[in-house]
Amino acid sequence: MPQKRRTFLKTTSLGLSALATGTAYHCQGKNTAITNITHPIIISTWDHGMAANKVGLHILKNKGSALDAVEKGVIVVENDPAVQTVGLGGFPDREGIVTLDACIMKGDGQCGSVAFLQDIKNPIAVARKVMEETPHIMIVGSGAKQFALEMGFKEENLLTEASRKKYEEWLKTGIYKPKINIENHDTISTLALDAQGHLAGACTTSGAAWKMHGRVGDSPLIAAGLFVDDEVGAAAATGLGEAVIRTAGSAMVVEAMRHGQSPKEACQSVCLRIKAKHKEVQDLQVGFIALRKDGAYGAYSLQPGFTYALGQHETHELYQATSMF
Ligand code: GLY
Repeated sequence: MPQKRRTFLKTTSLGLSALATGTAYHCQGKNTAITNITHPIIISTWDHGMAANKVGLHILKNKGSALDAVEKGVIVVENDPAVQTVGLGGFPDREGIVTLDACIMKGDGQCGSVAFLQDIKNPIAVARKVMEETPHIMIVGSGAKQFALEMGFKEENLLTEASRKKYEEWLKTGIYKPKINIENHDTISTLALDAQGHLAGACTTSGAAWKMHGRVGDSPLIAAGLFVDDEVGAAAATGLGEAVIRTAGSAMVVEAMRHGQSPKEACQSVCLRIKAKHKEVQDLQVGFIALRKDGAYGAYSLQPGFTYALGQHETHELYQATSMF
């Protein structure tokens, strides 16, 4: 069912949650975590972020970890066949094959990732297993699937009837032209700050619809699709992965916050970099969400239409990010 949109366009996108209670924020400090957090907070990309946040905030309010919150939150979206840009029911590549990318990261630098994964509907959970059960960070393709099966994940067909029909429609022209905000790049990225003052993030997608077989976007790449540092904050991306990779987008947002920019300013500054590197920026959508370690949050996108969901206290809200155009 479509979420009711509440838009607070260009007025509330620089959020400072009431979370930080008497905790000074040192933008270049060495502190690893805030310890007197009074309430947790979770932020996710797009309308489907509302469903992720509901599960994630419930975990956080029961003193669960940010890591559990982001993983279990995005799994809801991976499992939803109606979301055709993530997990089960994701649009296939130009060969008709669904391939999934995901990564997960904790504020202490621990991270895991899978890319070009097939037949396993929860890549984020496999990415977590890579982080926790292997000496590696990223496993791709058949190796990722083999690892997932060894870890007990079930093999299943991810191409739903609805996505197969869209693919067959697309085949009639076979033209690859990503559409802004719809169909191609609606990655779910979720960031959370838990009651213990730790941050985590998760990012998962079926990638660009009708992409070349083997194409991998920003979403499984630590620093591009996602970056988390308990010393500063967390950031995640959505939109055209190639543009995000060129700027190491999410890591740049976190570094901008480290140097004193607010979460929204940091997202905006990386969007400006992307604009500077792309001539045909009118055809391009990229959006970032950011969550600072004191609970301040923000978002920014190139094009209008990028929504993000916020969960804190008893409330879940959907916002329209401020955009450059
Ligand atoms: N941001 C998702 C992708 O480009 O694959």
